[in-house]
Amino acid sequence: MAKKLADVAGALLIFIGFPVWWYREPSVIDTFLESYDFNGKTIVPFCTSGSSGIGQTAERMQEIVGNGAKVLSGKRFVAGVTEDELKRWTEEIGG
Ligand SMILES: Cc1cc2nc3c(=O)[nH]c(=O)nc-3n(C[C@H](O)[C@H](O)[C@H](O)COP(=O)(O)O)c2cc1C
Repeated sequence: MAKKLADVAGALLIFIGFPVWWYREPSVIDTFLESYDFNGKTIVPFCTSGSSGIGQTAERMQEIVGNGAKVLSGKRFVAGVTEDELKRWTEEIGG
């Protein structure tokens, strides 16, 4: 069994990024969400894709983590987005 990677306990705002695979988040993202307790936290999904939007990802994530956490609608970036652009966006969200 794979080791747990992240220590989410200390974070209130959690960005979760992924490439769009077949119009949605890869299933490893769903597994990640199922593996931790996100109660009291805000999750911000973001993705890269060739052309698809972020779709129903936020709704699916909300269903997985339950109502104790808040999942924002998130944002799609074009594949190859620069680190600077991502950083600017995270700063806007994070305040
Ligand atoms: C298995 C697979 C499925 C994909 N499905 C989609 C898709 O449904 N819509 C889309 O716009 N791009 C799709 N892509 C393109 C990826 O979203 C794109 O390559 C990725 O966001 C680039 O991420 P990277 O910069 O981390 O490599 C797919 C790529 C792979 C490998």
